[in-house]
Amino acid sequence: MEKFDNASLFKISYGLYVVTCNDGEKDNGLIVNTVVQQSSTPLTLSVSISKQNYSHDVIKSTGKMNVNCLNTDTPFDIFKNFGFQSGKDNDKFKDVFHWKSQNGLAVLSGEIVNAFFSLEVLEYVDLGSHGLFICKVTEATHMGDEPSMTYDYYHQNVKPKKQEKKKGYVCKICGYVHESDTLPDDFICPICKHGATDFEKIE
Ligand SMILES: Cc1cc2nc3c(=O)[nH]c(=O)nc-3n(C[C@H](O)[C@H](O)[C@H](O)COP(=O)(O)O)c2cc1C
Repeated sequence: MEKFDNASLFKISYGLYVVTCNDGEKDNGLIVNTVVQQSSTPLTLSVSISKQNYSHDVIKSTGKMNVNCLNTDTPFDIFKNFGFQSGKDNDKFKDVFHWKSQNGLAVLSGEIVNAFFSLEVLEYVDLGSHGLFICKVTEATHMGDEPSMTYDYYHQNVKPKKQEKKKGYVCKICGYVHESDTLPDDFICPICKHGATDFEKIE
């Protein structure tokens, strides 16, 4: 590759989805941004899943999955549950409301999902780090009209922003932070009126 700007990848727009599957013992799901409609006759969708994810192996061996289209009401907890831990050693559905579609796989609540698709895998393409599942649609259900969650909306409004750690001196009495490299000896806390001796430097 002649030139590669990582930031260029963020200019591709995506939706966000919970893809559910079942290993024969328990339901599982993961967050993906890689659902794409590929054709209309027959109706096919593709989903790209990292080989390191448990769902990859489950879907490769069972040949089926559900795609839950998330709406903008989806709280960060759903992303934490399905996107930041593996179903290999966690039961991600133990505290999450869901019901079953005709293929027996989990569908999440209509409060956070505006449509779901049941898929059967037609072809698997090995792409190195990821496997691309090309699938036919066996059920497509419209569940609501809240706008779909995009990757951009997730970054702007859902994902917690990193808190910049403040630099300076903190008042041990009330927690007020004096943001400066120095603290004068006669400094008085503007909140609780304690003196400089009650401040300590933030390391
Ligand atoms: C916003 C977001 C988008 C993601 N997109 C994908 C994706 O397209 N493909 C994928 O394999 N993993 C994706 N992930 C990571 C998986 O959701 C994550 O690794 C998950 O814990 C895998 O769970 P599993 O091991 O139970 O399958 C994404 C995670 C987040 C938070």
